[in-house]
Amino acid sequence: MAKVTAGITTSHVPLLGRIVDTKQTQTEEWSPVFSGYEFTKKWIAEEKPDVVILVYNDHASAFDMKLIPTFAIGCAEEFPPADEGFGARPVPNVIGHPDLAWHIVQSVIEQDFDLTIVNEMAVDHGLTVPLSMCFGQPDAWPCKVIPVMVNTVVYPAPSGRRCLALGKALRKAVESFDENLNVQVWGTGGMSHQLIGERAGIINREWDTRFLDKFEKDYEELAQIPQSEYIRETGTEGSETVMWLIMRGALGENAREIHRHYHIPVSNTALGHLVYTCD
Ligand code: DHB
Ligand code: FE
Repeated sequence: MAKVTAGITTSHVPLLGRIVDTKQTQTEEWSPVFSGYEFTKKWIAEEKPDVVILVYNDHASAFDMKLIPTFAIGCAEEFPPADEGFGARPVPNVIGHPDLAWHIVQSVIEQDFDLTIVNEMAVDHGLTVPLSMCFGQPDAWPCKVIPVMVNTVVYPAPSGRRCLALGKALRKAVESFDENLNVQVWGTGGMSHQLIGERAGIINREWDTRFLDKFEKDYEELAQIPQSEYIRETGTEGSETVMWLIMRGALGENAREIHRHYHIPVSNTALGHLVYTCD
């Protein structure tokens, strides 16, 4: 059977993609940010996941005001990088796992989650930057990736409670797939950030740190935090952090933190990154 073995959470700041693409990760300015991913890169090269279920939010690249699914899953064979205004990033296409993706759709609908099925989709920095942070610049990504897209851009966005429950449903879905697969679940976005408006640049280190501290054992408590608190305390885009709860739900009760990295500022945001293993 397939098994969820581990997961990571990470911010997906687009500037970091640009830094990778232009080979500036080892400069004095950027090495303190990228050094926090050295552990992860070595670890994941040994873990060799077959599939990553990568939870992210689209930033008006594949979806716009015409169509806004709350939760969507990529069931295609392949997903190209999106052109976000400066041409597509020079990264490989993402190769999906249609059989597992369709199985997940079937399994979670039986658990009362109705995912929007997407068969053609370009993936933006929300998905490609985390891949670059953990895998560098390979000719092909070393595993299959199932994109799970969450609307955190247009309100109303889903609650932490709903995200945690979706994560738990994803775990059951994976563990009922009849093929031996090593599956990781990643949650991306966050932490504190607001990109425009009077509060642009808000960073709430205390709030972010408390979230990181409670993520391992007190995640049910974190799931009660309303969207309005993320926005008030960490900025409008800080609410992306809610997606980490999907990863946490998917890793089960006995998940353990094995690595943490928090760096401020990156662009004008707070970068958070965790690596977790689970039974
Ligand atoms: C930025 C954009 C993001 O989507 C994000 O999550 C963090 C930072 C930015 O433009 O700086
Ligand atoms: Fe974002």
